[in-house]
Amino acid sequence: MKKTFIILLITWIANLALATEGMWIPLLLKQLNEAEMRAMGMKMSAEDIYSVNRGSLKDAIVLFGGGCTGEVISGQGLLLTNHHCGYGQIQSHSTLENNYLQDGFWAMSRKEELPNPGLSVTFIVRIEDVTAQVLENVTPEMHYKERQAWVSRNTEQAKSAAARESYQDVMIRPFFEGNQYYLFVTETYRDIRLVGAPPSSIGKFGADTDNWVWPRHTGDFSLFRIYAGPDNKPADYSPDNVPFQPRHFLPVSLDGVSEGDFTMVFGFPGRTEEYLPSPAVAQRVDVLNPIRIGIRDRSLNIIDEEMRRDPQVRIQYASKQARIANAWKKWIGESQGVKATDGIGRKKAFEREFQKRVEANPEWKKQYGGLLSQFEKLYAEQEPFAKSREYIGEIAGRNIELFSLANSLHGVVKQYEANGAAALESRMPRIQSYLDGFFKDYRPEIDQLVFASLMEVYYNEVNPAHQSEFAIEQFVNAGKSPAELARIVFTKTKLVKPEALKQAISAGPDAFVQLLKEDYAYALVRSISEVSEGKVLGEYDRIQSEIDLLQQQYMKAQMEVFPEKRFYPDANGTLRVTYGQVAGYQARDAVHYQPMTYLEGVMEKYVPGDYEFDVPEKLRELYRNKDYGSYAEDGKLPVCFIGSNHTTGGNSGSPAIDAHGNLIGLNFDRVWEGTMSDINYDASICRNIMVDVRYILFIVDKYAGAGHLVEEMKLVRPKG
Ligand code: ARG
Ligand code: GLU
Repeated sequence: MKKTFIILLITWIANLALATEGMWIPLLLKQLNEAEMRAMGMKMSAEDIYSVNRGSLKDAIVLFGGGCTGEVISGQGLLLTNHHCGYGQIQSHSTLENNYLQDGFWAMSRKEELPNPGLSVTFIVRIEDVTAQVLENVTPEMHYKERQAWVSRNTEQAKSAAARESYQDVMIRPFFEGNQYYLFVTETYRDIRLVGAPPSSIGKFGADTDNWVWPRHTGDFSLFRIYAGPDNKPADYSPDNVPFQPRHFLPVSLDGVSEGDFTMVFGFPGRTEEYLPSPAVAQRVDVLNPIRIGIRDRSLNIIDEEMRRDPQVRIQYASKQARIANAWKKWIGESQGVKATDGIGRKKAFEREFQKRVEANPEWKKQYGGLLSQFEKLYAEQEPFAKSREYIGEIAGRNIELFSLANSLHGVVKQYEANGAAALESRMPRIQSYLDGFFKDYRPEIDQLVFASLMEVYYNEVNPAHQSEFAIEQFVNAGKSPAELARIVFTKTKLVKPEALKQAISAGPDAFVQLLKEDYAYALVRSISEVSEGKVLGEYDRIQSEIDLLQQQYMKAQMEVFPEKRFYPDANGTLRVTYGQVAGYQARDAVHYQPMTYLEGVMEKYVPGDYEFDVPEKLRELYRNKDYGSYAEDGKLPVCFIGSNHTTGGNSGSPAIDAHGNLIGLNFDRVWEGTMSDINYDASICRNIMVDVRYILFIVDKYAGAGHLVEEMKLVRPKG
């Protein structure tokens, strides 16, 4: 009796120390989190954060453009997100003459705000637990396919039964690996205009060197505005649209933060995998990450050098390079972090305890006794396919642009073959405009270098059984020289010649498809992809669906076997709340990081004219004169801070909110030591990085002279 009590007490204390782990469903805060949040200093109620009956914080939060978060910060639809989230839009409005990426952009009136076709933001109107409906008739014995069929049918029914307005959408998502389901009613606004962006020397200060790293000094923000029809409802772009009036917008705190203050981050985290078994984590860290990293080392070496050399390339490749480099650096940090915290050892210890408890209970033993060894077997079986899938995906799918282009144009050929030329006729202008977009930012001479470097990896490292014979023949014909093969491919292919493509498109679908089918590069990538589809992906997917089913059972089992643990669902792109405190951390022996940075630190890093660490003259002048307006604290201007909030990709642009519901910062990154938090959260070193909102206000007001935007906001001083 006494012993169980002590064990319970110890687990309870251990859980308290981990209190900041978790990405919680807003609907369940009252039940699961409110008490703890208040104990950590929160002054609001769960109902202030999420309510269907009245305006609440959630009404100020949007999914921004598919992959980021944004928040409404004025009654006139003013929207704050990261600079790197608006990057594609800022880039698309930039030319060498009007280089908004380099120099920044500020709309001084509503008329100057720039529309962004294709960009939208989505609000969450309501969340409902629909687990019972979706799992109706599903039994534990069912096989994957049968289960999936019931789930799809039930999902469709639950969706069509959900009450919604004509301008709203409904979606249902699986949680806890398909053990629970939630329904979301959403509203999507489609007229989103660019209002302001700092120059990259502020918004992307420190670029790749500082990316994923603390201490940080980046003003990673941009401003947009949501426009609505005259009825305040979603509408396509029109000059007659009006600024959107939100149900709620976040007041902005001028009081700043101190170590230990309660913080909450509200947004759309994309994907985490916290409940994987140890063989999956080991495979990712030891086998798959090194493959991806090695390939991107090569493509980044080439792109970086060309970008440093040519300012035009710098604009054209800005987004592409940032995307490739961002994941590359994260994977490096992730592998290191798992090792540094003995993530695999800890998973194994957890699994031993799991197995012990399972075997002590006959019913569990029957149901769950073999799960872990089954995982072991399946991951080992999948590994050769997973490796080839990673190699070919990185080489032919994500890094050689000629191949990505050919792969997307393959979709056109497939349509042609399925539906005939007539059906394609009307799509030709769309294909042309896709190509225009592609060629605007394309340099064949750079891609040719990437091709040579990555195809070398294809021939040397990909399992020969998964290589295409046609591709091998071409290599042999080129004297086994990757550079020579690249030269031949780029000379022969018409896919890098916009004029030839244009001509074929205007001649109609038959001519265009014929061009593709006769094209050498198209044939090469098709043969690589077909071999991969036939010999790699089929097997990979088959094993993966078994793993998925196992993972669903393992999740259910963990929740049953560890009733004292409070579980949160992995991130899946839906709205979540995470909370913690402003906190520094011990990065390694003798190195302790403080939680706040200041403008002094920007100046320490300043390297005149540098591609990553230049500082604009105007900012240096404000610094010299200590001209900080009301945004400084004890004569120093805050720039960034870190906290123990559990975030991931997709949380970019999420608001950092204080105990009262005011905006104090803007989430944009995590610290290097803690990037493994997606698979192995560790409260001691996992920190999220936020821009201090006072730095944002300072840049808008003092640097850009766009004080009219600050006037639109509601500034508050909650600390009095
Ligand atoms: N690492 C942050 C995130 O994952 C910021 C990326 C943008 N910044 C950059 N230097 N590429 O997305
Ligand atoms: N920068 C990331 C994003 O784009 C957020 C940082 C993270 O992954 O935590 O969502």
